[in-house]
Amino acid sequence: MKSKKIVILGTGGTIAGTAADAGDSLGYTAAQVGIEQLVAALPALAATGCELLSEQVAQIDSKDMDVAIWHALARRVAHWLAQDEVQGVVITHGTDTLEETAFFLQAVLDPAKPVVLTCAMRPATALAPDGPQNVLDAVAVASQAGARGVAAVCAGVIHGAMDVQKVHTYRLDAFSSGDAGPLGYVEAGRLRLLRNWPSAPVLNGVLAIKNIAFDAIHRPWPRVEIVMNHAGADGRAVRALAADGVQGLVVAGTGNGTLHHALEAALLQAQTQGVRVVRATRCLEGRVLPHAGDVFADSQGLSPVKARVALMLALMDPA
Ligand code: SIN
Repeated sequence: MKSKKIVILGTGGTIAGTAADAGDSLGYTAAQVGIEQLVAALPALAATGCELLSEQVAQIDSKDMDVAIWHALARRVAHWLAQDEVQGVVITHGTDTLEETAFFLQAVLDPAKPVVLTCAMRPATALAPDGPQNVLDAVAVASQAGARGVAAVCAGVIHGAMDVQKVHTYRLDAFSSGDAGPLGYVEAGRLRLLRNWPSAPVLNGVLAIKNIAFDAIHRPWPRVEIVMNHAGADGRAVRALAADGVQGLVVAGTGNGTLHHALEAALLQAQTQGVRVVRATRCLEGRVLPHAGDVFADSQGLSPVKARVALMLALMDPA
């Protein structure tokens, strides 16, 4: 008898990609194969003992991810998780913006059941595609008793939504959780956990945002852009964005969030004009360590792309 129901939501990505030549791992088109077809091509899923449902929520290359699809996805995840018989949700997603979607879903849903994003670095038509094993591993995580929160599974590694980051352009094991380390591993269908399941981020102004993104569906989201510190950063981009009505800026600083003096001056001026500024770091590991006298809020450990999502949500928070 089938006991656990797992819902697999498809959004596209390389995992659903096809190439004319099976040996071509670069010249392929993402988001071509439907989720039903991907699931049907994986008979090993039947051996998991789970009852599987699948649904296509989007069919895109994740470089094109946008807030309309995030809304649709969050709504479908919330819908399925509310069904008592559903144990968890798996989402197939492109690798390129997977970390942003994972953070968004964790922030707005803080699910008490597991929501597991998975992906592939090789298209479905490759000689040795990595997607099928990743889906099997994701289903193993989603069906694990006690699992909760949003996680990502790739190449046998389980990452939490707060920490996961794509760090490689080609390798199958393309993700890292930085110095936080992964949540655990999937080994031959079994989980070896190292840390607790993720829970919603405790960030200034970003807590209690459940439903804000849902309620805001009919209004445009606040405009938040990312600027970077670099040699010769002169602040002109910041002045242009402020003049164009940007509501928030995340600055990817150097090292511990340091900024060229000209960029810092432009950001201070923008902040005085009412633009919310958050300082993150362009370093892949570590976080901006705040100290007395800081003139900009720090990203509380979030990477620049996640800090941008957090700031958009914070700007929507009426509280
Ligand atoms: C995408 O992000 O949709 C394409 C790249 C990938 O999935 O690896």
